[in-house]
Amino acid sequence: MSPLLSIRGLTAGYGGPPIIEDVSFDVAANEIAVILGPNGAGKSTVLKTIFALTKVLSGAIDFEGTDIASRKTSALVTLGMSAVPQSRNVFRNLTVDENLDVGTYAAPPADKAATREKILELFPDLRAKLKQPAGELSGGQRQMVAIGRAMMCEPKLILLDEPTAGLSPAYLERIFDLLLDIRKTGVTILMVEQNARQALQIADHGHVLVNGGNFASGTGKELLADEDVRRSFLGGTPE
Ligand SMILES: Nc1ncnc2c1ncn2[C@@H]1O[C@H](COP(=O)(O)OP(=O)(O)OP(=O)(O)O)[C@@H](O)[C@H]1O
Ligand SMILES: [Mg+2]
Repeated sequence: MSPLLSIRGLTAGYGGPPIIEDVSFDVAANEIAVILGPNGAGKSTVLKTIFALTKVLSGAIDFEGTDIASRKTSALVTLGMSAVPQSRNVFRNLTVDENLDVGTYAAPPADKAATREKILELFPDLRAKLKQPAGELSGGQRQMVAIGRAMMCEPKLILLDEPTAGLSPAYLERIFDLLLDIRKTGVTILMVEQNARQALQIADHGHVLVNGGNFASGTGKELLADEDVRRSFLGGTPE
């Protein structure tokens, strides 16, 4: 089966020299794929490039077989793509419910109430907080609001940039469990993660990026067992 998302020879940046160069990988429908790599490797830039927030210099991005490299972000949302940025990913002065509603603006779901209900079933913690400003929530709960907002347009693919950044190990597990639940609803997930070992345990495929280029790709299991990847990115000894 052809991949949901296919990235070929992607070179992109912010107007100056390229930040990512000749990056290639595929994301299959309904998988969890993770991008790993050191700080500054260009992980966020890859996600931003897929979501049309950088300048593509060369290469192709195919989504469901259509080249989307020159589409605008709003058009990508309509095609079924959604994203949660690495920081400032909720409207702190808006309530949780209002934050979820913002997620419907670019591409309203067919039945907004039903979509909201489905999301609250996935994120039961948010139900009691609907009328509270998102800025008053804990970091983990804010992350849930951000992911919930991204789910409100009924996306086929969500791009998540470090969904567990700054969270306690217990919360990290809850977020990863949630991602597995989201995947069960048919959504494909491409995420960047610093918690490499845990991420590879739930990911179908991982893509390691170094200095803006491909370093290694494989299944979660393959990368966990790969000597070079382990030494450089997973802190040495196997579990
Ligand atoms: N808006 C921008 N304008 C110019 N350069 C940028 C911009 N955003 C990022 N960069 C540069 O691109 C490079 C890669 O940054 P990027 O944020 O993609 O890395 P990352 O792998 O996500 O790092 P981290 O793990 O710290 O989040 C860095 O050198 C950074 O300074
Ligand atoms: Mg980043």
